[in-house]
Amino acid sequence: MYARSVSDRSHVPVLLGEVVAALAPCADSTYVDCTAGLGGHAAEIASRMGAGQVVLIDADPTMLARAEARVREAAPGCTVVARRGNFAEAERLVDALGLKADMVLADLGFCSAQMDEGERGFSFMRDGPLDMRLDPGLSTSAADLVNTLPERELASIFRDFGEEPRASQVARKIVGARSESPILTTVRLAELIRAIVPRSPAGIDPATRVFQALRIAVNDELGVLDALLSSVARGASGGGWLAPGARVGIISFHSLEDRPVKTALGELVRRGLAEAAGARLVEAGEDERRRNPRARSAKLRAVRLGDIPRRS
Ligand SMILES: C[S@@+](CC[C@H](N)C(=O)[O-])C[C@H]1O[C@@H](n2cnc3c(N)ncnc32)[C@H](O)[C@@H]1O
Repeated sequence: MYARSVSDRSHVPVLLGEVVAALAPCADSTYVDCTAGLGGHAAEIASRMGAGQVVLIDADPTMLARAEARVREAAPGCTVVARRGNFAEAERLVDALGLKADMVLADLGFCSAQMDEGERGFSFMRDGPLDMRLDPGLSTSAADLVNTLPERELASIFRDFGEEPRASQVARKIVGARSESPILTTVRLAELIRAIVPRSPAGIDPATRVFQALRIAVNDELGVLDALLSSVARGASGGGWLAPGARVGIISFHSLEDRPVKTALGELVRRGLAEAAGARLVEAGEDERRRNPRARSAKLRAVRLGDIPRRS
């Protein structure tokens, strides 16, 4: 299915130094990576731990296997457990292992490796089936939504999850086109969108917002983020899965994700259950922004929980 490549080892994750500073890895602790991806953050943190437990979670089994291989190689002294699943279930997964997390990271969204595989259907630059499921086991693909939802529901997905100003016109265009033949490929959808949405002065592809919206809808990205934030709040209030003093970092890439993260972590600080781990908001420096376009929109927020005793 997959062969670990040199490019996995050379993949540099976003805000790596900043994540390490916020999570402060130390030996014999437990690290939970909710979005293992290519294992870039996890390999660095695990190698700094030297010994301890590393729990890798990813909804995408291919990514999980790549992360696991990379972390095992980088940190042979750590015990690595890989669990395919949604991070909405992180609390249950960690509980089931009988562990308490000292460090938790969620680096939201998708990896460039997933974007590069045309057959996953995330990219409007590569032709492929209109899929967009991070977890291939999900029952509904982007093509299912595009070909079956009523025009009004499509428009609200494009507006609410993509902030697309021409949401209604795009939805109308799609409904007209699908009555001739189902829309099954990324390139056909992108062309329909480009017929309605003009190219921005900054040169951003007109299909960007609608593709983002569909990906969020297919994977219920805001719903599962809420579930993760609720489990962090439970952990901070003495729930079982987070250790006293645990550090929790979340990297988001657009305002729809950053807003709930900011609110939820800010609320923990306001209630005296946590303090900011480093600056309240961390963004990439000039150098990283130049090297990695994805880093330009990355926002890291991290907290350190108080040392209150926790229920086991
Ligand atoms: C940006 S990548 C993570 C990259 C990783 N930090 C690294 O250093 O290589 C995001 C990963 O999270 C996974 N993912 C996204 N949403 C998820 C969810 N709700 N539950 C579990 N995994 C998820 C994706 O499949 C993808 O592999």
